[in-house]
Amino acid sequence: MLHQHQPMPEGDHILKVEDVSKRYGPVIALRGVSIAVKRGSIHGLLGENGAGKSTLVGIISGQFPPSGGRIVLNGTPLAHADVRAMEEAGVFLVTQESMIIDHMSAAENLMLGIWPNRRGFVNWRRLTADAARMLEGSGIDPKARAGKLDAVARRKLNILRAMFSGGKVIILDEPTAALTVADRRVLFDFMRRLKADGVTFIFISHYNDEILDVCDAVSVLRDGLLAGGSDDIGAMTSEQLSELVLGRGLALFQRERQSHEGKAPLVSFRGVVAKHVDLAALDIAPGEIVGFTGLPGAGAKEFARTIFGLNVAEAGTIAIGGAEPVPLPRAPRDAFDTGIAYLSDDRRREGSVGQMSIGDNIAMSSLPARSRAGFIDKAAESQVVDRYFQAMGIKAPTPQAAVDTLSGGNQQKVCLGRVLATEPRLLIVDEPTRGIDIGVKQDVLRIIDRLSRTGVAVIMVSTDTDELVRATDRICIFEHGAIRETLTGADISTERLRRTAQA
Ligand SMILES: Nc1ncnc2c1ncn2[C@@H]1O[C@H](COP(=O)(O)OP(=O)(O)OP(=O)(O)O)[C@@H](O)[C@H]1O
Ligand SMILES: [Mg+2]
Repeated sequence: MLHQHQPMPEGDHILKVEDVSKRYGPVIALRGVSIAVKRGSIHGLLGENGAGKSTLVGIISGQFPPSGGRIVLNGTPLAHADVRAMEEAGVFLVTQESMIIDHMSAAENLMLGIWPNRRGFVNWRRLTADAARMLEGSGIDPKARAGKLDAVARRKLNILRAMFSGGKVIILDEPTAALTVADRRVLFDFMRRLKADGVTFIFISHYNDEILDVCDAVSVLRDGLLAGGSDDIGAMTSEQLSELVLGRGLALFQRERQSHEGKAPLVSFRGVVAKHVDLAALDIAPGEIVGFTGLPGAGAKEFARTIFGLNVAEAGTIAIGGAEPVPLPRAPRDAFDTGIAYLSDDRRREGSVGQMSIGDNIAMSSLPARSRAGFIDKAAESQVVDRYFQAMGIKAPTPQAAVDTLSGGNQQKVCLGRVLATEPRLLIVDEPTRGIDIGVKQDVLRIIDRLSRTGVAVIMVSTDTDELVRATDRICIFEHGAIRETLTGADISTERLRRTAQA
């Protein structure tokens, strides 16, 4: 029997989410969610795009208040706590947008989290020495300019900043996006080390293998409800996780790989030279999906950006559809006019326009092609919008909803929809499923597969080996700006890719 006013033993739960709800007008983002997080554990948070993960950690970290329910830290309920109050209580949220000031040193960046007026007098000299010691311990040069740090060092810097400011609970919202496989391992080792020092993590990811690898416990959200979870991650399988996330089994997509050997190419590149690129020749057949991969700076991404005119080509030609070779495009506009479309991996900066509606975003790039004699064919436009809104399964009440009210993954879908709506001849997608949940990932790979069957050539730049193996006909591994190795047919496998990536 439960005795009402007897305090529940807090035991080793540092943080409790109790019956938390959140409404945005008609949208219910969270419905009575309760989660208990053990002290010194890594607690995974999993769920489809729009399930409510970012909303939940936003509430925990004091970014905005819940519509109902409460957060209990160390047995104390925290009411109306804002970001500053939560940080003072030791709860920090690290997102991909977390601020790093590029022109400041790594050590100076660590000290950004200190609230000076709370401490009144701050001993900056002592603080600087402490910051330097902490950074050196994790392999970052304290004097290095933050702008020069690589992705994993920046991610670490954000976590260290939280710790340096007294963080006891550090929340990471999709921290592994944009990291290579090796970088992820470095980050996970780092988290485990801090965990041993007593730090508690809440870790959001769309990758089951990451959750199973680094977490001790997991909670899964579905449609704003707690769908399930476990305090003992060892007892969970990847299939069980997928089922909790989706509410059904997951049918993994696998492209029926095709050989395009001997076909007349749709696109031919010759003698391409640009920063980090020095590539003699590459032909891509109509309907072919070619994967580009390699370490950062090896040329895969850089070559793709050069094709679209985002990076300047010093030399090199492109020939499309049997036409005469011409110099590579000098600007995206030129590339676009020759039938090339490009999905940037940095959807936030080169992607969607937040205040605009989903529909206007989708139609934006294809608009010039669809406007006849200066006026826009509204009927045709709304047809295109509806088609991609449905095809991408964008989770929003209507296509009129503003993009910045969508969850991260759904914003990505809008970007992809916009690129596909331009009906290109050569489609370049850079990390097409980053930030997208496992269910939608299958849909996106299926959409690209279907598009290729209409004769479109596709370049898929990716560090996601699983995605490369399941969605491409051929994989080019880049090194020093050129293609070091090409895998086709039966040679395409996860093990093979992992091995070559490490070679
Ligand atoms: N400011 C807002 N106005 C209206 N609706 C919002 C707002 N912020 C979030 N939502 C809605 O709340 C729901 C949950 O969004 P949330 O960002 O928490 O999802 P998520 O689980 O983090 O998804 P993702 O994996 O895509 O990042 C979504 O339906 C989203 O559209
Ligand atoms: Mg999110």
